[in-house]
Amino acid sequence: MDVLEAVNKRKSIRAFKPDPVPVEVLKKIVEGALHAPSASNSQPWELAVVSGAKLKEIKKGFLENPGRPTVDMPGAIQYPEPYASRRAAVMSGALNLMGVAREDKEARVQWGLQGAKLWGAPSCIYVMIDRVFFYIDDKINIWPAFDCGAITQTILLLATENGLGSIPAIQPVLYPDLLREKLSLPASKLMVLGIPIGYPDWEAPVNRLRTTREPLDKMAKFY
Ligand SMILES: Cc1cc2nc3c(=O)[nH]c(=O)nc-3n(C[C@H](O)[C@H](O)[C@H](O)COP(=O)(O)O)c2cc1C
Repeated sequence: MDVLEAVNKRKSIRAFKPDPVPVEVLKKIVEGALHAPSASNSQPWELAVVSGAKLKEIKKGFLENPGRPTVDMPGAIQYPEPYASRRAAVMSGALNLMGVAREDKEARVQWGLQGAKLWGAPSCIYVMIDRVFFYIDDKINIWPAFDCGAITQTILLLATENGLGSIPAIQPVLYPDLLREKLSLPASKLMVLGIPIGYPDWEAPVNRLRTTREPLDKMAKFY
């Protein structure tokens, strides 16, 4: 598969088959992704690839109401325009395909729980960085987060090349303390995002979602 084909084929998958992904395939993807660029080749990412009983334990923990969700990485609390409209389009697109009405609170809660279950994925790659490099003189160092984005996209593309589906997502890291406890990690390991990965369930309506993109002439100027 060439790069452009992988770029075009990749999309976020929100329903997976339970079939496990062979660990050799996961290793191949992660090893390949380690070639992603990073500022000064600092390679600030740390990856936890979790499957099997440990992942089941994590999913169970997420479903047992572990308290208020929180995040290690400061993120968007508000979406001004034009970002709000783009976000709304993805959310309503997914809910429509699932047959969930906007006003049906219970159905929306149930759909939200799918995220806690990692949409049924048999594996999840957690992307982390160490606190010591994320805060410098009490200020946020944005570069390692950027680098984590680079390795994340590389993982997603290699997953596509290997016939796997994936989704970069915040929902899998909404209880970072629980993750650190289950994975025996120190408090210094900050959870950036999770990448549920596995074989897509193409029968699931939600996987028909195709998000749109703004056109080239709106997003890029050529000088
Ligand atoms: C940093 C980041 C966090 C995301 N978090 C979530 C999430 O928590 N739940 C979700 O359903 N999708 C999440 N997504 C997926 C985006 O909604 C998706 O990438 C976007 O709508 C574009 O669609 P596509 O990936 O299918 O091209 C996230 C994507 C990124 C890059």
